[in-house]
Amino acid sequence: MSDLLVTDIGCLVTNVATFDGTPLGVVHDAAFMVTAGKVSWVGANSAAVAGDYKNVISANGKTVIPGFVDSHNHLIFAGDRADEFSARMQGMPYTAGGINYTVEKTRSASTQELRANAAGLVHEGLRTGTTTVEIKSGYGLNIDQEKRSLEIAHEFTEEITFLGAHVVPVEFKTVPDDYVAMVCGPMLDAVAPIAKWIDVFCDRGAFTPAQTRRILHAGIVKGLRPRLHANQLEPGEGIKVGVELDAASVDHISYYSDSDLAALAGSNTVATFLPGAEFSTRSKYPDARPMLEAGIMVAIASDCNPGSSYSTNMSFMIALAVRELFFTPAQALWSATKGGALALRRNDIGHLSVGANADFAILQSDSYLHLAYRPGVNLIEQVWQNGNRVN
Ligand code: NIG
Ligand code: FE
Repeated sequence: MSDLLVTDIGCLVTNVATFDGTPLGVVHDAAFMVTAGKVSWVGANSAAVAGDYKNVISANGKTVIPGFVDSHNHLIFAGDRADEFSARMQGMPYTAGGINYTVEKTRSASTQELRANAAGLVHEGLRTGTTTVEIKSGYGLNIDQEKRSLEIAHEFTEEITFLGAHVVPVEFKTVPDDYVAMVCGPMLDAVAPIAKWIDVFCDRGAFTPAQTRRILHAGIVKGLRPRLHANQLEPGEGIKVGVELDAASVDHISYYSDSDLAALAGSNTVATFLPGAEFSTRSKYPDARPMLEAGIMVAIASDCNPGSSYSTNMSFMIALAVRELFFTPAQALWSATKGGALALRRNDIGHLSVGANADFAILQSDSYLHLAYRPGVNLIEQVWQNGNRVN
């Protein structure tokens, strides 16, 4: 017996090109079946067979998309930085230094408080269609606090990332290399059993390319897989360091050169744009077209954090990507779903074809174009994870 049959789908986005010859793999007038939490059949609505299903739902001619895969977030923190945001909107520049304010608040927060804040944000994302979320540490910046952050993150997702190298904490300000040594040694030993990924903020005011290589390499030796914050605040070597170490993803990439493009083109590293950060720091948006035209794997994520992008809303990121980074609506939707899955090196999510997790959203609209066309409107009517309705 199958768990679920979804019928009368006006527009089904599968992200499998064989369906229509485009990356979105759109099927009109479609239906699909779910067995044991996975998609077990996809086809024409008229071909859906009546049978023994635990549940049959009609999408009433609306659009169904794979759940968003939000591959870059910082959800373990306390307090907010609304005043800093306000000052930026009046001309103050964004700097990495603001992170230490959140570190102070996070260290003094109870575990219960951090858990409740993260749960609220994960739920906020879920309500707006995000069915897989990556969560980083990075506001603890000492051994016990980084470990605590990752343990809390692990309650919400398997995609957890050790970001001990977010910035140098104030107590190591004059001896940054001592902090790097601690991250590479005892901190990594403490977190390696919990974390899946290791990340470094390789940028002005954070870590140098040499420090980044050292930290990522130490993480790889301990069995973690690399990803990277690269070229958010200025051009630099971050993208190339990521490619060199086969990072799953290089994120922000607000600045990139032709040689960065060439490095990415031959690689297995995803280029992840985080347009919420440009929005909330009033920074110049990158133009994604050269990346897209070069055929590089591209993702979009929300980068939810209290400093540079306090939003969990992937539809908003899609709208920004289309309006400001020159994605087509189809490219943006693909990047927020399949692209995010590739950035996490997952092939069981981010698409709706046989074998995929039945993680999907039903939109209020009969066209996915509305995700960008109707900015600021929550078009997500239902959210399903593993074949179960979660919102
Ligand atoms: O991805 N860039 C580094 N880290 C975060 C911002 C963190 C903060 O400002 O608190 C980001 O944008
Ligand atoms: Fe980030």
